[in-house]
Amino acid sequence: MTRASPLRLATSLFAECFASRPAVAASAPGRVNLIGEHLDYNGGPVLPLAIDRRTVAVAAPAESWEVVSEMDGQVIDLRPEGPNRGGWSDYVVGVIRVLRSRGITLPGARLAVASSVPIGAGLSSSAALAVAVGRALTMLVGRRVSAGDLADVAYHAEHDEVGVECGRMDQTISAFAEAGSALLIETSTMEMRRVPLAGKVWVLETGVSHKLSGGALNTRRRECEDALAICREHGVRVPALAALVPSQLEQVLRILPPPLGARVRHIVTETARTRTAAAALAQGNLPELGRFLFEGHESLRLDFQSSCDEADLLVASAGRRGAFGARLTGAGWGGAVIMLVAQEIEARTVAEMQEDFRQAFGRLPEAWWTKAAAG
Ligand code: GLA
Repeated sequence: MTRASPLRLATSLFAECFASRPAVAASAPGRVNLIGEHLDYNGGPVLPLAIDRRTVAVAAPAESWEVVSEMDGQVIDLRPEGPNRGGWSDYVVGVIRVLRSRGITLPGARLAVASSVPIGAGLSSSAALAVAVGRALTMLVGRRVSAGDLADVAYHAEHDEVGVECGRMDQTISAFAEAGSALLIETSTMEMRRVPLAGKVWVLETGVSHKLSGGALNTRRRECEDALAICREHGVRVPALAALVPSQLEQVLRILPPPLGARVRHIVTETARTRTAAAALAQGNLPELGRFLFEGHESLRLDFQSSCDEADLLVASAGRRGAFGARLTGAGWGGAVIMLVAQEIEARTVAEMQEDFRQAFGRLPEAWWTKAAAG
């Protein structure tokens, strides 16, 4: 059975809960990151693309704040002045607070949201929510905001207000994506370059859900900051870890205690890999790009230690079954694996990977594909 579109779901949910029609609708996509993991908070390059799954927010002006999600149909009273509640509605409150702090007058609103982005699957459902809500609320008060401002508002909502110490990749791709292209973002300057990507990207969900706020991502971020501080104490002058060049690695590894050395090795090798992978994609060389995906996964598994058994099994299976490449995408500790594979063998490869997974974990992982979608 095909599900109704998120726009229809959000609109009918709004009508059901608030007995009126919404005045505006906005949407934003989730993403996968082709390569460049954990580089956006270390000043390195990332190469994400938007997926063709979106979060929709519909809204109408009101005296107070209420929001409802199609996930559970519970209308939540929002208190932007009060403490966070510890759930998804904190992202909505975060966006309200950040917009207000920028002088945008927001008296109140009713919102309904619906999404086809899987939640907790490492596909940036939170950035899609924040960008869609930011767009809907600014439309409601007749303010036009640029994609850059929207991404910035969503970033501060997630980072400052919800407390996930993310970088800027997810919000940026959600706001800037164009159909048919991945986006190479140099996060030290926020310079962006589109890299055409015509083919399919397969997504295999591990079914292991990760919760980022206060979790492992924040720990990794701290480790990276500590490593940078130690490097500087030893006279290695760099603005960020991704600015270390591979020839400095040996020296840095002598200075850093475990596990910081391994974390930095991931950052330095991943930075080089991401730039060459983007060049391979620009030339349409999928076999070469794929090799970088496999290498990137090994680096996440061994050095950054952000993988999980389920993802490792899928990536190993993709390798044995003849895929060009596969790797865990997004923050990690669960989430989803992406895979690039030749069209002639894709159906068989996916089925074999699912079967390998079922034999190990007793359940079938969701598998679907996307093309690079618009923001
Ligand atoms: C999460 C964060 C991003 C990025 C990735 C890892 O998705 O939100 O900013 O750091 O993890 O690459």
